[in-house]
Amino acid sequence: MKILSIETSCDETALAIIEAKGYDFDLQFKVLSSALNSQINLHKEFGGVFPSLAKREHAHNLPHLLEDLFLGTLKKTTNTLPEDIKKEVKELLNREEGLYEKLITYIETHEKPDVDMIAVTSGPGLEPALWVGINSARALSLMWNIPVLPVNHMEGHIASVLLEPNINVEFPAISLLISGGHTELIKISKWGEYEILGRTLDDAIGEAYDKIARMIGISYPGGPEVSMRASKLRKEGLEPKFEFPRPMLHSKDLDFSFSGIKTSVLYKTQELGDMSESTKDQVAYSFEEAVVEVIKKKTQDSIDLIGAKSLIVGGGVIANTYIRESLKKVCDDNGIIIYLPEKDLSTDNAVMIGAAGYLKSLRSEATINPEIKADGNWRVDS
Ligand code: KG4
Ligand code: ZN
Repeated sequence: MKILSIETSCDETALAIIEAKGYDFDLQFKVLSSALNSQINLHKEFGGVFPSLAKREHAHNLPHLLEDLFLGTLKKTTNTLPEDIKKEVKELLNREEGLYEKLITYIETHEKPDVDMIAVTSGPGLEPALWVGINSARALSLMWNIPVLPVNHMEGHIASVLLEPNINVEFPAISLLISGGHTELIKISKWGEYEILGRTLDDAIGEAYDKIARMIGISYPGGPEVSMRASKLRKEGLEPKFEFPRPMLHSKDLDFSFSGIKTSVLYKTQELGDMSESTKDQVAYSFEEAVVEVIKKKTQDSIDLIGAKSLIVGGGVIANTYIRESLKKVCDDNGIIIYLPEKDLSTDNAVMIGAAGYLKSLRSEATINPEIKADGNWRVDS
């Protein structure tokens, strides 16, 4: 099955075409094409993702990315659409400035692609941003007569590990998803059967990294530099100088909270005043030691709770080498397998949405132009 997938839940506009086949224990995926535009530089000045700007950019980027996606594969032709279809598409896209005209022009001048299904992220995420992807998916569905399935973004992150060849995940599995927008521990009984065991009660872990970064004068997204500074001191064999709290380390549940440590770092930096570079390194190092201890402990507790046979990790924060190594060690100590997506698939992308769309197609049917609503808080287990 060939799947066209669309992701616009945050600040990445992404499209992909994948080929997928097989069932639960014999899944095979191949990426045929993918196109992505990251808006990260535009959001920098806001210190985070600004929803209405993200929405506008998605609408602007989508037609260009569609062209890139099919570049060299879709022949030019005349493909005049019936007036009633055009009318419906226009209604669907009337809130996204310029999108209708650009999409119609492209569709009417190119042949229909060899695609069996469209998968689109419909939550969780920023609703104004999600709507752009959803309405575009419905418009393409109408114009090309291809059925659509709405996909949960978190299932996408879980499915991101399936793109490596010959992956055969043993269940029950735990998935730890850590990024700028999510921190979740999910039980996976089998593909499609998920249960959220714990999640952050306030900030996501990536968000905490970014806020700490800001306190020591590093611009958004500061996670990578905070971890770079921390690893420098770790390599030198130094002890962390500051004692920051390990929020909810001993709570009986599997939830996380990062706002306490953020406040504690804030007070410390205010107390320190003008910081030297080495003091900033120490703040970063002490912060990272604290959060990684929490991540490790909660992951271990969740493995114990369900008797997990494997761990699937996803989300942009796993670019962090120390976190990867720490989680690998947890899995080694438990004698279980760890699955990590390759770097490009750990951050938001459409390939993982296509893979999750395929998993979903094994349990539900895609239809032409379905009513889909953006759900900013869509839980993967509901
Ligand atoms: O998944 P992602 O690309 O985007 C969203 O969450 O939308 O994750 C980005 C987050 C940012 O908060 C960034 O600071 C964090 O991941 N991040 C890191 C590292 N690389 C990226 N945090 C800690 N250490 C890193 N090496
Ligand atoms: Zn994400």
